[in-house]
Amino acid sequence: MTAETNVTTQIPKIGDRAPDFQANSSKGPISLKDYKGKWVVLFSHPADFTPVCTTEFIEFARRYEEFEQRNAQLVGLSIDSVYSHIAWLLQMEKIYGVEVKFPVIADLNMNVAHLYGLIHERANATSTVRAVFFIDPEGVVRALIYYPASTGRNISEILRVLDSLTYADSFMIATPADWKAGDDVIVPQPATLQAAKDRLKDKNLQVKDWFLAIKKSPKQ
Ligand code: BEZ
Repeated sequence: MTAETNVTTQIPKIGDRAPDFQANSSKGPISLKDYKGKWVVLFSHPADFTPVCTTEFIEFARRYEEFEQRNAQLVGLSIDSVYSHIAWLLQMEKIYGVEVKFPVIADLNMNVAHLYGLIHERANATSTVRAVFFIDPEGVVRALIYYPASTGRNISEILRVLDSLTYADSFMIATPADWKAGDDVIVPQPATLQAAKDRLKDKNLQVKDWFLAIKKSPKQ
């Protein structure tokens, strides 16, 4: 705990159970448990009615169906009131013609922000950074990304991470740099000397080295 803060916040890590929460949102009261069985993409933004956040929300809203197709629920969050959220979302509908169909948490008491380590005091003690938590259908944190207020997020990257996680779970593979759905994938590296020798002779894979072998996407 530093002199600047009187609340201890911990960032949930990959593999941790995502902290449950009950919160008020632009769609009424919600809790993490409501989404059991779905992926949850929980993302925070610094404040309503700010330029970078507005561009992010427009893109999240435009691409909402792509999250639905992946069985993923978007949940936004900031330390603003529900009335502020309502006014901002209405304005986006009116000016940009986009409907925000996902809930946005009004975290005025900073309860969820503290549970997820969304306030980085040296950046700003009263607003959330741009964080993205990927929570799997069993409620486990599988990935997290943090950005400063000045960097708007890339929605394609968020969808790409979701795809990588679901491919890895379904097909026991890993995905290389700059991978996108449909590209070649990496097969797990051999765990024994004999398996490494066998791998070097495997004609069904593109074997670059005993520990790096590529195969076609299991899903086109
Ligand atoms: C923005 O979304 O534009 C923003 C939010 C907080 C601080 C600076 C910029």
